[in-house]
Amino acid sequence: MNKGTRFGFALAFLVVASVLGIAIVALTSKSDTQVAENSGTAQTASHGKPQVGGAFELVAHTGQTVTNADFAGKYMLMFFGFTFCPDVCPTELQVMTSALEELGPVADKIQPIFVTIDPERDTPDAMAQYVAHFHPSLMGLTGTSEQISQVAKAYRVYYKRVEDPSSAAEYTMDHSAVVYLMGPDGAFLKHYGGATSPEDMAKSLKKYVK
Ligand code: NI
Repeated sequence: MNKGTRFGFALAFLVVASVLGIAIVALTSKSDTQVAENSGTAQTASHGKPQVGGAFELVAHTGQTVTNADFAGKYMLMFFGFTFCPDVCPTELQVMTSALEELGPVADKIQPIFVTIDPERDTPDAMAQYVAHFHPSLMGLTGTSEQISQVAKAYRVYYKRVEDPSSAAEYTMDHSAVVYLMGPDGAFLKHYGGATSPEDMAKSLKKYVK
């Protein structure tokens, strides 16, 4: 081996070493970023997905206490609203109902859920009467105001009581109207806005529900 060749090898070694070094630095800083982005969201979204969902304890329209763990292994199609809602809530629950009917047997893997953001009026009995108007497997969930506030926060649902002295109902509720699809592991998969048709929702559910 002459001097020139040895120099060549040394140079090649240096190049390889520095490329490896850069690669290692890149890998290390990437995992640091992922840890930072995922910290505090252990039970929710995977990388790059919105941080929606998490643990809850509520009361079903049957009077039974339920938690998120009771739905493990099932997809949850969740909507937050209130039974006194004149239009948005019944419309959205009807869209969910029609979409599930269109799905056929795949719908058995999906638990449709209606969570009230008006627990004061929406007792388990009130919820039982209300959910009977929609899909037979629709579950109504209510709870204490603290329980509702907690689940709404976890699902990033906005709601606010608005006084309405002109109405016999005395008040109404402002609320966001989004349908969430959560996976069998409880992780957020997809959300549907108010303009989604039953056909589009069914088409999308078919893609996600395996
Ligand atoms: Ni509503």
